[in-house]
Amino acid sequence: MSHPEFLSKWKNHRNIRLLDVGCGDGEALVRFLLPLVPGYSSAVAIDMLEEMIRSCSARYGSVPRLTWRQLDVTTSDLTALESLGKFSHVASTFCFHWIVDQRQLFGNVHKLMLPGGQLFATLLRDTDLSYAVEELARMDKWAPFMANWRSYPSVYARNDQWESLLRGHMESAGFNQIDITITSSTFDFKEDCDMKGKMA
Ligand SMILES: C[S@@+](CC[C@H](N)C(=O)[O-])C[C@H]1O[C@@H](n2cnc3c(N)ncnc32)[C@H](O)[C@@H]1O
Repeated sequence: MSHPEFLSKWKNHRNIRLLDVGCGDGEALVRFLLPLVPGYSSAVAIDMLEEMIRSCSARYGSVPRLTWRQLDVTTSDLTALESLGKFSHVASTFCFHWIVDQRQLFGNVHKLMLPGGQLFATLLRDTDLSYAVEELARMDKWAPFMANWRSYPSVYARNDQWESLLRGHMESAGFNQIDITITSSTFDFKEDCDMKGKMA
């Protein structure tokens, strides 16, 4: 099923309690996700960076039934995790591929979901940048500084086994009916600093 097809069904769902993981500046949630679920009963957005949450609260503090919380989704602090409550719908755009501990990530996300809940996540796989990173990491000059190159800019970059790895992490966490779709996208950054901001 394509992304638009999957998400278009959400508008007919009732009693939606939505979690956005890695909300960043909040724009994707407020401008793209929330309009897809106009009848949501409540929504929580988390990001590991305090400054993101501070800026989201300042910018979108008036959005009804939406709260912003600073939290690392891979936390091992169960009390912090449980304090969020449980969610019928979880969404995450361009965040999961940064997270090295995928087992902990999907384990925690699954714990946050109500039975029968749905997860929608977009992850980056390979980009031209992945190839450049690999090339640099293989040069004697840069290799000592790039031991972790395989997890940048995506833990699934330059890895032929990415799909079975991803599926395996999700299945181990308890997810079923997993649908993985690959799309090719172009990112258009108006300024160098926009791209650097997204890659940092
Ligand atoms: C590329 S931004 C995407 C922001 C937004 N979802 C969007 O699509 O524009 C990735 C965000 O994920 C957050 N993030 C990365 N690892 C995280 C983690 N372990 N827990 C929570 N947030 C995390 C980062 O702080 C960053 O704000």
